[in-house]
Amino acid sequence: MKTLLSMLTELVGNTFTSCGYNHTYGQVTLSNRPDLCQFQCNGALAAAKAYKKSPILIAKEVVEHLQNQSYFETIQYIAPGFINITLQDDYLVSYLNNVALSPQFGCTPIENQETVIIDYGGANIAKPLHIGHLRTAIIGESLKRMYRFLGYNVLGDVHLGDWGLQIGLIIAEVKKRHPELPYFDASYKADYPNEAPFTISELEEIYPVASSYAKEHPEFMSEAKNITFLFQQNHPGYKALWQQILKVSIDDLKKNYTALNVHFDLWKKESDAQPYIPKMIENLKELGLAYENDGAVVVDIKEDADTREMPPCILVKSDGATLYSTTDLATLIERKQLFNPNEVIYIVDKRQSLHFEQVFRTARKAELIPPTTKLTFLGFGTMNGTDGKPFKTRNGGVMRLEQLIEEVHTKVYAKVAQNKAISKEEALIISKQIGLAALKYGDLSNQISKDYVFDLERFTSFEGNTGPYLLYTAVRMSALLEKASLVDVRSKIDAPSSEMERALMLKLALFNELVPESIMQYSPHKLCQYLYELCNLFNRFYHEHKILTESNISKQQSWLKLTALCKEMLVTGLDLLGIEVPHKM
Ligand code: ARG
Repeated sequence: MKTLLSMLTELVGNTFTSCGYNHTYGQVTLSNRPDLCQFQCNGALAAAKAYKKSPILIAKEVVEHLQNQSYFETIQYIAPGFINITLQDDYLVSYLNNVALSPQFGCTPIENQETVIIDYGGANIAKPLHIGHLRTAIIGESLKRMYRFLGYNVLGDVHLGDWGLQIGLIIAEVKKRHPELPYFDASYKADYPNEAPFTISELEEIYPVASSYAKEHPEFMSEAKNITFLFQQNHPGYKALWQQILKVSIDDLKKNYTALNVHFDLWKKESDAQPYIPKMIENLKELGLAYENDGAVVVDIKEDADTREMPPCILVKSDGATLYSTTDLATLIERKQLFNPNEVIYIVDKRQSLHFEQVFRTARKAELIPPTTKLTFLGFGTMNGTDGKPFKTRNGGVMRLEQLIEEVHTKVYAKVAQNKAISKEEALIISKQIGLAALKYGDLSNQISKDYVFDLERFTSFEGNTGPYLLYTAVRMSALLEKASLVDVRSKIDAPSSEMERALMLKLALFNELVPESIMQYSPHKLCQYLYELCNLFNRFYHEHKILTESNISKQQSWLKLTALCKEMLVTGLDLLGIEVPHKM
């Protein structure tokens, strides 16, 4: 379905053409003075320069041609050359009724089913999820849903960190604690034992202990390195123990992500890419891109236009170990072979931007993926505490994600429990949903690349630009629809009877414009803004009109239909943010 803006742009553009100007000057946008008009076209100002004519004359000419169009309530030219447009109510309402009947509210799906891989989550095995993992999970889940909504074949990949020194450290620590276990023997042959020698809490305690012990004890560190090396050379016992680490970790991670309502299509791991590495390095050497430098293997990626330091991409260190970049490059080859994506989007802390620039440049130079495959790094900013510093626990430690969620939950529960109409069990479930909405919306309503302040008080407020406010509005819409019965779901929405109602209708008619736009710009914050404005408009409309007691039944039906459409759009929009609506609150 064509959007209002594209139809208006076509119409006004054609008029510019018939007046002898280029079509492109007819670009119509939303008005930035909604008190004066709904839409505007500023093309006459630019055309004036190109055609050396006065802008007001051009605007006048175009407006005169359009004057008798039935679409417009008003179309005016205003000094110095703006064209202001307001639609006829009948036209707006018939468009809106079409939107209501169209799949996905008239958002046109993409034509070719393109495959997009979203690399998010990025959890590391044997380490608990902490605050740093929250943003990537929330943003990635939302983008995954948004892309899918537009018809993309989306694969969300958690891309687990399961490789490298962390594994050696854990194995070394387990060996220190339980030398009697069979895994450490070079001749280990048994099948993987069914029982892991640790629970998830033990495993999570092991890593930090091993890591700080290794810093003080060089012999332990070199043992961990040696184990890592042997493990990477397929030492059967270490591999078996690693399988146990994986299993225990993944079970726990799945539980945690499910609690966040975050779901991955792929549980691929860094280790899956390792088999591609030897051939990749060989190829890069043959292409003359990779070369030996002081025992290391590197690729130069500097470009003349660089304004920042661009060190070579190191593929192999002088001690023979491969690196994070090597794994990311090999992962691209694997992704190409398995899924042949049109785009790969990485949602990672923006402090890793140099790493990704190195990886992308190397991948392009070596043509590891086709030139048409888009590589997108969406670096996110830091979540800070109210003191403006990276978020910490009260005693200054890194906060576990579970703990943060618990704090939000407790805070929201205290509010929900005040509603005596809600049972205790229900309140527990509902406050979980509201708590998640508070967290997710608090994050997504900010531009991805910006740092933001995690303000529990503000995020959990039921008023203002917050997740709970949006949920509250959705619940209010449902309650209204439940109380009054919508006689005929196919009943049409009638022309607006107030300025408030008209503004709400215009907002709904723009869903198919603004939602796809925020998706294509990787900007969930724009969707948040749209939904927030929709809620404000609805609440004002609801306040001004006594819908339940309205005696004119056809008017009441039209209002209910409008409310139903608002609710569907709001629930759809929230779902795109990864947010669920409770049935009451
Ligand atoms: N596991 C990594 C970390 O904790 C994040 C992985 C991001 N994705 C990637 N393809 N490098 O920093």
